[in-house]
Amino acid sequence: MLNLAQIQQHDSEDMLHLLSTFSEQCRRGWEIGEALDLAGCDERIPNNIVIAGMGGSGIGGDLVKAVAGTEFPCPIIVHRGYTLPAFVSSQTLFVAVSYSGNTEETLLSVKKAFAQGAKILAVTSGGKLKGFADAHGFPCLAIPAGQPPRASLGYLLMPILSVFARLGYTLDLNLQSDLEEAVALLARMAVDFQPDAPESQPKQLAHALHGKLPVIYASQELEAVAMRWKGQINENGKSLAYYSVYPEMNHNEIEGWKHPPALTRSCHVLQLRDPAAPSQTQRRMDITAELIQSYTGGIAQVHSEGTSLLTRLLSLVAIGDWTSYYLAILYEQNPTPVRRIEELKRRLET
Ligand code: PA5
Repeated sequence: MLNLAQIQQHDSEDMLHLLSTFSEQCRRGWEIGEALDLAGCDERIPNNIVIAGMGGSGIGGDLVKAVAGTEFPCPIIVHRGYTLPAFVSSQTLFVAVSYSGNTEETLLSVKKAFAQGAKILAVTSGGKLKGFADAHGFPCLAIPAGQPPRASLGYLLMPILSVFARLGYTLDLNLQSDLEEAVALLARMAVDFQPDAPESQPKQLAHALHGKLPVIYASQELEAVAMRWKGQINENGKSLAYYSVYPEMNHNEIEGWKHPPALTRSCHVLQLRDPAAPSQTQRRMDITAELIQSYTGGIAQVHSEGTSLLTRLLSLVAIGDWTSYYLAILYEQNPTPVRRIEELKRRLET
């Protein structure tokens, strides 16, 4: 089912190449952050950091927050939408992330943040966001254009981490060496997950998800990764998907695993596992699997790999990205175009 001929037939825009070069993109993304001129930037730790972005761009902000973890010196808020909280002020660092630079929600919120006196950092390949940054002289991480935003995660995530490291926000993290570990693992995965490689985990998972509703469960600490899995299955696989996190789902959703039975049996659950998740959460995940198993269409565990948090998060992202790719092929879909998203944006402009 997942042979090279089928892949060539459906992947006419070569998403395979972008998946295969993700490790290099992460390194290049880090270098883009290293090259940014920070002269004149306020190096004091802000009261809060707001990262604004939608879809394939917004997920970079969620992953920055996940990598920053609980020891980060100020709150990081990921913002999606038109309105802006009143706490955004001159003590805020506002990071506006839009791959195209033309996303309505992000443009409106960055303009409001600017009006509220926030310090701005932009991440974009061009468009109106680049124009706004240039007009007002705030720093802009200029990333390469011409790819789907969701296939540009290395460019959307790593430059921000690199700049935060340079500004001294991540002193307790050793991001430079974590990057080396992550790049090496992602390069190895790209070889292991190739279409002509022996049956790989993403291919097996795609077969398990085919014809089912993917339900992605993760610990709260991995929420960004669960959200990424959902988004990639939606956009690459052209399939519905759902995610939820522990421990919260144990206090409500677990009861829902009964009705409607035709739906619950059509769901395939994937639990994203990481050894650093709280031991209580690990127990919850094990017990929950036992309690709901007979109501589902299947449950599988997907484990992170690597030592550093950055590597472990990106390892799960990579498994999810490749799984969504193979799912697209099983559904005989071209993983690259997102025609409904584009059509919606076109209609909103008129
Ligand atoms: O993957 C996509 O195409 C979308 O999720 C976009 O990322 C989203 O619509 C926002 O656009 P942009 O990333 O250009 O800001």
